[in-house]
Amino acid sequence: MSQASIRGALTVGMGVVACAIGAVCLSAGGLLHEPEEIEMVEVGGCGVVSTPVSQEAELPVLAPEEIARFAAGDALFKGNCAQCHAMNDVVVGPALAGITKRQSEKWIVKWVQNSSKVIASGDVYGVKLYEQYGKQQMPSFRLSEQQIKNIVAYIEVQQGASRVAYN
Ligand code: HEC
Repeated sequence: MSQASIRGALTVGMGVVACAIGAVCLSAGGLLHEPEEIEMVEVGGCGVVSTPVSQEAELPVLAPEEIARFAAGDALFKGNCAQCHAMNDVVVGPALAGITKRQSEKWIVKWVQNSSKVIASGDVYGVKLYEQYGKQQMPSFRLSEQQIKNIVAYIEVQQGASRVAYN
C-alpha cells in the first residue's frame, strides 16, 4: 500500500465519524426528532412583555387656595426679596430654604416687617444673624401678615416641601 492511499483511507474514515457525531448531537438536542420542543422555545423567546416604567414625578400636590397663595408669594418674593435672597445660596442675605424649621412663622412676620426692632429687642437668634452678616440691615417691609405668610408658602413649595403650612 502506498502512503497516499493510506492518507486517503484515513480522511474518508474521519469524515464518517464526524457525520455520526453530528447526527447524535442533533438528535440529542431534539432538532431531528422532537419539533414540538423547538416550538415551545420560540414561544418563550417572543413572549417577553416589557412592563412600562412609571414616569410619574413626585411633585407637591396643591389645593386651589394653596396655588393662589403660592402665586401671590411668588410675585411678592420676586418683587421684594429676590435681590438679596435665594432658596439654596447666600446672596446678600441667607439662603431661605428650611426657614420654617429655623424660626416660627410669627417670628418671620415680625422680622420682615421690622428686623431692626427684633434685633433691638435682644432676640438672640436675630442678633447673631445680624452679626454673622456683617451688621447689614435688612430693609423693613410694609407687608401684611397674610402677604408674608404667602411668601413663606412660596418658599416652602420652592424648597421642595410637599405641603404648604396653612393658618
Ligand atoms: C437688601 C437686602 C435684603 C432684602 C431686600 C431682603 N433681605 Fe432678608 N435678610 C437680609 C440680610 C442681610 C439678612 C441677615 C440678617 C441681617 O443681617 O439683618 C436677612 C435675613 C432674613 C431672614 C432670616 C433668615 C434666616 O436664615 O434665619 C429672613 C426670613 C428674611 N431675611 C426674609 C426676607 C424676606 C421675606 C424678604 C422680602 C420681603 C427679604 N428678606 C428681603 C437681606 C435682605
